[in-house]
Amino acid sequence: MVERALLEAPVDVVRAPDTALREANLDVAATTPATPTVVARVLEVLPWYGSVNRGSGVRSRVTSEIYEDARATVHRLIGARADQAVIFVRAATDAINKVARKLLTQDGAGTVVVTTEAEHHANLLPWRWLDVRHVGLLPDGTPDTDHLAALCQEHRGNLRLVSVSGASNVTGHVPDLPLWARLAHEAGAELFVDGAQLAPHRALELAAMGIDHMAFSGHKIYAPFGSGVLVSPVDFIEGGPPDIWGGGAVADVSLDVIEWNCAPGRDEAGSPNVLGAVALATALETLHEIGFDRLQAHDDALIAQMEAELASVPGLSRPPTPAGDRVGVTAFAFAGFPVRDLARLLADDHGVSVRAGRFCAHPLTRHLLGQMGLPVDGGLVRVSFGGSTNGWEVERLGQALRAVAADLPETAVRYSDSAG
Ligand SMILES: Cc1ncc(COP(=O)(O)O)c(C=O)c1O
Repeated sequence: MVERALLEAPVDVVRAPDTALREANLDVAATTPATPTVVARVLEVLPWYGSVNRGSGVRSRVTSEIYEDARATVHRLIGARADQAVIFVRAATDAINKVARKLLTQDGAGTVVVTTEAEHHANLLPWRWLDVRHVGLLPDGTPDTDHLAALCQEHRGNLRLVSVSGASNVTGHVPDLPLWARLAHEAGAELFVDGAQLAPHRALELAAMGIDHMAFSGHKIYAPFGSGVLVSPVDFIEGGPPDIWGGGAVADVSLDVIEWNCAPGRDEAGSPNVLGAVALATALETLHEIGFDRLQAHDDALIAQMEAELASVPGLSRPPTPAGDRVGVTAFAFAGFPVRDLARLLADDHGVSVRAGRFCAHPLTRHLLGQMGLPVDGGLVRVSFGGSTNGWEVERLGQALRAVAADLPETAVRYSDSAG
């Protein structure tokens, strides 16, 4: 039996004033609303807003300090090593592209990188500029660590990077990151973690877990102000030219010669997104103040509640439950009922917001559909929840799905006709 108190959302977020339209927001893996702490901090900083590291006026000096404080806060709160730099970027996608492009310019297209078939496209496609190998999947959609070990062994000494998502955006699976780090390091490689879905749910402990590089996005940790983070070793950042060239990236320039800046400025050409950086650092502080033990207990309680709700829906088709640790993400379908219609119906008739499709993770979704005996080019409906989710939202999902199931296939036919 799930303890009721654990179902109350520990993370407060700003909501639309019309509370009569009580939306059950089960799409937080896509993006998260801001916390009041983030909004308050942005408003506090705005009157001082000015250029960063470019002016001598008071605004510029204050803003530069605020920006560097945000960087130091992030560095501290993610447990990064002293030799790792925090670079502010647009989002996780930007960070992963940056690292792949750097590997291409520093080491060439023959650089061997291992990633998995379970990745979001952000952590799948950029590695294709290099010599990428993919860890295959077990039936439950989790990466096969025996295959990882075999690939590490095969490419030992030649392998530059192993990259994996810290939590899957389709199954919620959280891999054993210290194990991935050990296997990568034993093969002479570094570990890159796509932390986009992990950061809202778990304390990031880079040094303790052996993570060399990490990317995550502000808008998935309640700071939707257009910023993200790349953490990488300073010697990697400084091992070649930046991927974007311009002001701030250089120490000295003549018409023939460029002397690059050191990290992190070297990889932050152009005027930085100060408010985004401040919002992201404040969101991390808020999550730490709430406490990741509490957030995880809340996640676990919601997962238990969701499992009970979904188990009570007749005819619902679900992929195998992923083994091991997981965060609040899962997918399902009714065979024969188009998933986009189902998602629209959940929103229109029941106020339940979900996502339908293949979630920018086509290989993984195809694999799961195959396991479910459904057409592999179809899609699934995804529900995702986290610190800002209340138990009633998951309950509403269960009620809505039971109502849909009650008159399948009539609902499917009727809704498809009217949805156009
Ligand atoms: C696992 C994972 N990685 C990367 C991304 C890309 O994040 P962003 O769109 O913020 O760059 C996402 C987005 O959903 C994701 O779920």
